[in-house]
Amino acid sequence: MLVVNVSFPYDLLCMVLNILIEDTFTLSRCALVSWDFNRAASRVLYSRVVLSPAFRPPTSLEVDSAQRFGTRLLSASLPHNAPHVQTLRIGGYLSTCPTTWDPLSETLLTAVHAFSNLHTVEILPEMYNSELFTPLLSELKDRTCLANLRVNSSCTDDGNAPILAKIVGLRTLELKSPSRAILQLLPDWLGRLTSLKELHMTSNCGSVTPWVLRSFLPFLGNITAFSFGLSYSITNDDLFDFLGQLPCLEIAQLQHYLQFKPSEISSPMTRLRSLTVLHHPADDPDNVDRICDWVLRAISGSHIERIQLCCDEFDDSDSAPRSFDALIEHLSRMHSQTLRVLDLSGWLISESSVSLLFETCVRLEEFNSALDLPGFELFKSLVPTMKHLHTAALQVYDAFSLTSEDADWIMQSSHALRRLSVNDLRTEGSWFSEGDGVRFVVQELRAYSSNEELPLSPRAESSIQHAPSMDAILEEEE
Ligand SMILES: *[C@@H]1O[C@H](CO)[C@@H](O)[C@H](O)[C@H]1NC(C)=O
Ligand SMILES: *[C@@H]1O[C@H](CO)[C@@H](O)[C@H](O)[C@H]1NC(C)=O
Repeated sequence: MLVVNVSFPYDLLCMVLNILIEDTFTLSRCALVSWDFNRAASRVLYSRVVLSPAFRPPTSLEVDSAQRFGTRLLSASLPHNAPHVQTLRIGGYLSTCPTTWDPLSETLLTAVHAFSNLHTVEILPEMYNSELFTPLLSELKDRTCLANLRVNSSCTDDGNAPILAKIVGLRTLELKSPSRAILQLLPDWLGRLTSLKELHMTSNCGSVTPWVLRSFLPFLGNITAFSFGLSYSITNDDLFDFLGQLPCLEIAQLQHYLQFKPSEISSPMTRLRSLTVLHHPADDPDNVDRICDWVLRAISGSHIERIQLCCDEFDDSDSAPRSFDALIEHLSRMHSQTLRVLDLSGWLISESSVSLLFETCVRLEEFNSALDLPGFELFKSLVPTMKHLHTAALQVYDAFSLTSEDADWIMQSSHALRRLSVNDLRTEGSWFSEGDGVRFVVQELRAYSSNEELPLSPRAESSIQHAPSMDAILEEEE
């Protein structure tokens, strides 16, 4: 057999295979090409280990599943694979048996011990035995590489909280539904987390009182990203007063809830660039006005680049309130030079707002909102004037559906637009080389998957995305 020895620089090979991060099938085949390919592909394949068993009734099958995960964890813990592991995600339905009976707990601890380069750890199980995480958290205590940690109440009960709070060196910390126990320890812990740049307290933050929130302030001078979930004891004034005192804050994800007390003016978040607002459904026009006013208050005095509103339900009729026209008017006056992403989700804006937005915010790159039919017609005619708009997702409220030919026509009319969704139709354009030239082709994409998790913040998301994928190897098949 003729052996061709092509010497392709290993570093480049790693970069090329990194592009296949999400494609574990191709990566595992690449691993069979040669030793160099094997080494480079394993780096990518093993960089992310996910342990997330699906739900099953407690029968003997559970043991099988534990064994299966056990074998896979062991393979990731082998001396030539373990140093590649950078991200460990634990989720799903773990055994609730005492850990002495659960074969997985020992394997998991051995694995974590072997993963010496762990950079990101997530522990967000649906079902578990909390003893499982105690030795694991102690193991993470002295890791110099560990930068990102996401945990939920499974790691913040009275037993685990003191151990968790010994971990230092973090850059990003997310406490999902923080418990009272961890909140008490948090000021002290934050005092030792001197490299912390992002603090996310998400989901149920009911135990956070105004006093507790203020007790964190002395330690958050370097924080650039902050998230806060739902706490009914924190009023708008408490929240904005707190946020105004974070001098480096650039990215915020906040939960809005309806409040009726008129609020006072507090110091603005002058460095805020990105705002994500989670809010509850509202169809009363007065309440929609309140949400819009709240957003206006949050961005006042900032150089906002990205605004995203998230909610599950909207009034999807063309007679829905157009409260967010006021936001567009404000953006066009105050933020037209900086605004790049506007995601109003299902909130309806008027035809005149589309025209105002596109005339003034010329740097807009992404635009999501709901429009009525005249608004959509105007959008179509203005798209060619938008030099940077590469992504648009629109809900058109009017028993309307777009054909892929229409989508093709709209995208061909623009220099920048690459992704366009209208109601259920999702399309993407790309260049193909063909015969003697290249051709721009628009293709229809699969439907949205409804269980995609909300990203924390653009930065948190990108730091997670850096990590290559081994999900297909360790994640449970449905
Ligand atoms: C987090 O922890 C709680 C325990 O309080 C658990 O019931 C919940 O399902 C966990 N999972 C996630 C993903 O939040
Ligand atoms: C902010 O960062 C500086 C240098 O990186 C550090 O010395 C200081 O302690 C940090 N401040 C806080 C409040 O963590």
